[in-house]
Amino acid sequence: MKELIQKLCASFGPAGREGQIRAVIAAEIEKLKEEYFVDTLGNLVVRKGPAGGKKILVAAHMDEIGLMVTYIEENGYLRFTNLGGIMQQTLPGTRVFFENGTVGVIGQEKNKETREPGLSKYYLDIGAENRETALAKVKIGDAAVYLAPLHQEGKRLTAKSLDNRVGCAVLLETLSRLSAATLPGEVFFVFTVQEEVGLRGAQTIAYRTKPHYGLAVDVTRVGDTPEPEFKTNVSLGKGPTVKVMDSAVICHPKVTNLMMDVAEKNNIPYQPEVLERGGTDAGAIHLSRDGIPTGALSIPCRYIHTPAEMVDLDDVENGIALLQELLKCEQW
Ligand code: CO
Ligand code: ZN
Repeated sequence: MKELIQKLCASFGPAGREGQIRAVIAAEIEKLKEEYFVDTLGNLVVRKGPAGGKKILVAAHMDEIGLMVTYIEENGYLRFTNLGGIMQQTLPGTRVFFENGTVGVIGQEKNKETREPGLSKYYLDIGAENRETALAKVKIGDAAVYLAPLHQEGKRLTAKSLDNRVGCAVLLETLSRLSAATLPGEVFFVFTVQEEVGLRGAQTIAYRTKPHYGLAVDVTRVGDTPEPEFKTNVSLGKGPTVKVMDSAVICHPKVTNLMMDVAEKNNIPYQPEVLERGGTDAGAIHLSRDGIPTGALSIPCRYIHTPAEMVDLDDVENGIALLQELLKCEQW
């Protein structure tokens, strides 16, 4: 499991530039002898199970937050904007890499104010002495992601982009453990694009697949760190969560109740989740067409949207177990 997550997290795939991570996921799916297709926006879709029954869309976004180059200074420094929710306080001294392997370090101009200065006061140093040498490596519009290799400490993994490569790993592992014969209906396992900039890939694939039910698999915030921003009971290591609500969706009670029932029947630990700020692909899926009853399963994660996100391997295993039992369940 760790090796799979490590491979997924090491891959490049900011919102809108998912080519590399999609190729890595496609290779894993080929190993499982499953068929897939890629839609117009770049979502990767695996269909499994008998047609004719209820259709379920299970979505995990494969994109990650990142930076995009906006301007190149005469002296070779790059200016950038954000792709998704970059946290400014984690930027100075952080390394990023581009699709072609170019590595840069983020620096910050002298800050005379106490509040966050805004991204215009940061720059990216790729070791170029002028605009011309910078342009030999990087163009305006190129994107970069954090350079932060995975590390394991006991049951805890830290890496960049565990949001949401850990969700992708949960889908891949569930796919490998489920045989089509045990599925009561058709399941679309979708690795979506552009979640971090507004749930965009989920919107088009929900329309295309026209499911009866939707489920997003993503990470969620925890309350088990010193003075968390919001009070929440969600802790690392106490099981995946069954989302009840976040800023983009109020999960359909039929789906949340089914998830909780399945977890209890199978003795899988879970935590109810109310996320006061943030959203997942469930937010787009439930609003597709004339509305789709949708829920979400989350893996608790610390330090979301920093270069060192952290998850617990037990939560990952229990997340896979819950997703597997849920998809096999006849009560949809
Ligand atoms: Co995110
Ligand atoms: Zn996410």
